[in-house]
Amino acid sequence: MKMEKVLITDSSFEVKPATIVRKRVLTDKEHLFEIRLEGGEALNHDPGQFVEVSILGAGEAPISICSSPTRRQGFEVCVRKIGKLTTVMHNLEVGDTLGIRGPYGKGFPVGILEGHDLLLIAGGLGLAPLRSLINYVMDNRRDFGRVSILLGCNTPQSILFGDEVDLWSSRIDVSFHCTVDRADPDWKGHVGAITTLIPGETIDPDYTFAIIVGPPVMYKYVIKELLAKGVPESQILVSLERHMKCGLGKCGHCQIHNIYCCQDGPVFRYDRIKNLRGAI
Ligand SMILES: Cc1cc2nc3c(=O)[nH]c(=O)nc-3n(C[C@H](O)[C@H](O)[C@H](O)COP(=O)(O)OP(=O)(O)OC[C@H]3O[C@@H](n4cnc5c(N)ncnc54)[C@H](O)[C@@H]3O)c2cc1C
Ligand code: FES
Repeated sequence: MKMEKVLITDSSFEVKPATIVRKRVLTDKEHLFEIRLEGGEALNHDPGQFVEVSILGAGEAPISICSSPTRRQGFEVCVRKIGKLTTVMHNLEVGDTLGIRGPYGKGFPVGILEGHDLLLIAGGLGLAPLRSLINYVMDNRRDFGRVSILLGCNTPQSILFGDEVDLWSSRIDVSFHCTVDRADPDWKGHVGAITTLIPGETIDPDYTFAIIVGPPVMYKYVIKELLAKGVPESQILVSLERHMKCGLGKCGHCQIHNIYCCQDGPVFRYDRIKNLRGAI
């Protein structure tokens, strides 16, 4: 696999001061933060890219940008409380400051996706990075063909962005299906693994790009269903998550054989990584 060289300039490492301008509790584990860079500077990100968030004394972590570049002056991140930095971040309030490096990585190739049908598949927290693309597509709806969204979650309570999910599912120009692993008596929707939604989808394989973002366990089975539907390997895109430190191809933490997930990805074409042991 041939990799492009990315020019790393001093400014790529720069930690920019930023302020939390809005905070919303999405679930008991995930909070949404709207962040603005100091002086109102635009982040200039592509859907699917990530930033390194740093908080003095708590460290640094890669977090996906979950807002579309077509929306708001700032940008949004959805943070799951899991360890040191994310716990401190959950306790920050509007007006508090933090550091931002980036945006980093190769996101979703929107220019290539334009004119095609899209099958957007998210599992759990995977909806956060995919939301940046979904809302980009919603804001440029005429540039895309048929749009289908498949969402899989553990429980109805763990569904992120519930208000937007309702909006997407009510649009006549979007096909939307959601499934949960474990339902309560109030849940009227589908129950089962996300793979069970794929056979029912109408797909024109030649014109469809399938985009998958979710927990590692999901990829193998979802890809199998997509291949059974005839979607070419080159039209299946996955976003891979690896332990990352520097975020820009220097430290080697995210390396899978000859690729750096942070710089060559996190979004990859399936045919380009399928033979890399450990990638999927
Ligand atoms: C490209 C990318 C995008 C991400 N986007 C988001 C996002 O939008 N929202 C979000 O909440 N999180 C996201 N993450 C995950 C987030 O970076 C980690 O959870 C991070 O470690 C949290 O920092 P912490 O200091 O709170 O946890 P730590 O105290 O560092 O670690 C907590 C635990 O999580 C484990 N861990 C750390 N990083 C990872 C990893 N990448 N994969 C699996 N286990 C890990 C550690 O080994 C430890 O057990 C993303 C990661 C990557 C690589
Ligand atoms: S995180 Fe350092 S090389 Fe990718």
